[in-house]
Amino acid sequence: MPDSNPLLDKLLQSKNYRDICPDTVRRVWAECVRRYKKPKDVEKAAREALHGISGAFMTPGEARQLAYDMQDWCIKHTDVGLEKMLSLHASTRERLPVSDMDALYARIFEVTGRPRSVLDLACGIQPLYLGARGIKATGVDISGLAVDAVNRFGEVYGMPVSAACADILCPGAIPAGPFDVALLFKLLPLLERQKAGAALDVMNAVNANWLVVSFPTRTMGGRNVGMAAQYSDWMAAHIPAGRSVAASFETGNELFFILGKEARP
Ligand SMILES: C[S@@+](CC[C@H](N)C(=O)[O-])C[C@H]1O[C@@H](n2cnc3c(N)ncnc32)[C@H](O)[C@@H]1O
Repeated sequence: MPDSNPLLDKLLQSKNYRDICPDTVRRVWAECVRRYKKPKDVEKAAREALHGISGAFMTPGEARQLAYDMQDWCIKHTDVGLEKMLSLHASTRERLPVSDMDALYARIFEVTGRPRSVLDLACGIQPLYLGARGIKATGVDISGLAVDAVNRFGEVYGMPVSAACADILCPGAIPAGPFDVALLFKLLPLLERQKAGAALDVMNAVNANWLVVSFPTRTMGGRNVGMAAQYSDWMAAHIPAGRSVAASFETGNELFFILGKEARP
């Protein structure tokens, strides 16, 4: 597959995708070229797929606001300020208030112990919470806006966080580790949609003592349409090699599984 092509260049230069990891644009384009013959169909399918992947988790305007709020938080260190920052990404917004996030992580760390290192796959801006609570976190995401925010928190404000703009479905994107805990929050259904079978492959590729996996239980519109039961069944059928479920629980709109390593006989 050539890595230069007029349509690929057009997609890479489009302002719609300038904040997405270029590897994702290349991967999606290559998949569409394999599936469609006519350039018009390739372009339509690639644009639809990229739109679905990048979603509307955080707009450029919200990213700019985050830069201001971050500066403010770093002076005052208040939970109100932290909440303002975390409300600027759709996924962390759903876990607020911050007291609920504290309760969520307390529940996770009760099982895993307080980690010395966390890998956050498809992190969004969640490492801001972890860093603000003094937890060392390494993030990966295809969103340049989210990754820039995490790196600013680390590099400019000295928080123990960093992130890489990389596509988990491309070779070499998952940091080697080892990590105490890996978070895969609201990621696996997205990966399966991008590539069938990818969710289990990614879980097997992560080098961490514990995997903490979550699934949304409500639609974007807040409706309960039986997603918890559906994802429980999916998880039961996709336990990674050498792991077992140490705990599972549900919060208002999310279902969590904590997967530990099975003891060797
Ligand atoms: C539903 S959000 C979850 C964000 C974060 N894990 C959380 O729960 O707060 C999904 C995230 O996955 C990222 N993403 C989607 N496909 C990805 C891929 N192939 N590689 C890396 N990140 C991806 C998106 O950019 C987005 O930030």
